[in-house]
Amino acid sequence: MNIYKAFEVREEPEKNFHGSIVDKSMPEPQEGSVIIDVHYSSVNYKDALSASGSKAVTREYPHVPGIDAAGKVLASTDSNFVVGEEVIVTGYDLGMNTAGGFGQQICVPASWVAKLPFGLSLRDSMVLGTAGLTAGLCVDKLLQNGVTPEAGKVLVTGATGGVGIVACALLAKLGFDVVASTGKLSEGERLKALGVCEVISREALSEENPRPLLKESYAAAVDVAGGATLVNVIKSLSYGGSVAACGLVDSPAINVTVLPFILRGVNLLGVDSVELPLSKKQEIWALFASEWSLTAIDSLAETIVLAELPAALAKVLAGGAVGRYLLDLKA
Ligand SMILES: NC(=O)c1ccc[n+]([C@@H]2O[C@H](COP(=O)([O-])OP(=O)(O)OC[C@H]3O[C@@H](n4cnc5c(N)ncnc54)[C@H](OP(=O)(O)O)[C@@H]3O)[C@@H](O)[C@H]2O)c1
Repeated sequence: MNIYKAFEVREEPEKNFHGSIVDKSMPEPQEGSVIIDVHYSSVNYKDALSASGSKAVTREYPHVPGIDAAGKVLASTDSNFVVGEEVIVTGYDLGMNTAGGFGQQICVPASWVAKLPFGLSLRDSMVLGTAGLTAGLCVDKLLQNGVTPEAGKVLVTGATGGVGIVACALLAKLGFDVVASTGKLSEGERLKALGVCEVISREALSEENPRPLLKESYAAAVDVAGGATLVNVIKSLSYGGSVAACGLVDSPAINVTVLPFILRGVNLLGVDSVELPLSKKQEIWALFASEWSLTAIDSLAETIVLAELPAALAKVLAGGAVGRYLLDLKA
């Protein structure tokens, strides 16, 4: 039997959730599914929620989290994939209620599987992972809405987090003046090394302000925070500006008047990287493999192994992580 290792989270008495490394075996694949030998995964905020028992993410335990996986096809009942082919799976139900990339093997529907584009390694695809894909989608939305480097500064919130750090690096590469908002001002030099022009404190944006409009400061923004932070961002966009909103680390609720929209014509652009069509994911991966290729990609992630997951997950859950955690399942 084909045995592999996985980080499995179990529900214990008094709603405690505990993860440990276990041996698992993979059943025969069902029609239309692909078994993947996972080489790399990564740690995302949603994984931290799943591993800590958030039923909004994972309904039933024991469960193997990991919303990201990159590896080689081990077996496929879909003719679109051949054994040995390099592939990426992110989002859909992976790691939520389907065993995810914190295991050395996954079995997923072929419709979730993106082919690794030429020019991107399995490793780098997971340095980016869902966070990087989301950052890419945010930048893509801004570009589609006509944002150019000449329009003015672009703000990135949660700048040292997974989405934020990739958004900073990508926007800087594309020639934008990037302003990074962070709760970790001590990481300012690291952000500047990625090409960020200015670093501001998270608190500057997170306090509620009763004024319906604030000084026009940014042509565009990538926001991972939601809540009062997103409201302040919307109020601070210059005329015709756009914010790509993808997260809720501050709060899922926003309390904003329509005035920024009807007086300044600003755009609130929603970004989802989970359920969007595979073809769009493939398009963004292809950009990261070519014109969006990040020279500083190695500096974005710390590599960890299965046994180091508990500490990494706790740090991500507490908002204390800097950059990305790359999970090496072959180490
Ligand atoms: N829409 C989608 O498809 C999609 C996809 C991926 C992620 N997301 C969401 O995007 C958000 C960020 O994900 P991630 O993977 O980048 O998470 P992450 O790596 O944990 O980073 C989040 C960062 O946000 C900042 N932060 C923490 N608490 C905050 C608060 N109360 N107010 C403002 N900022 C705070 C911190 O950075 P600083 O210390 O630098 O401020 C933290 O490192 C999450 O809400 C996640 O669920 C959505």
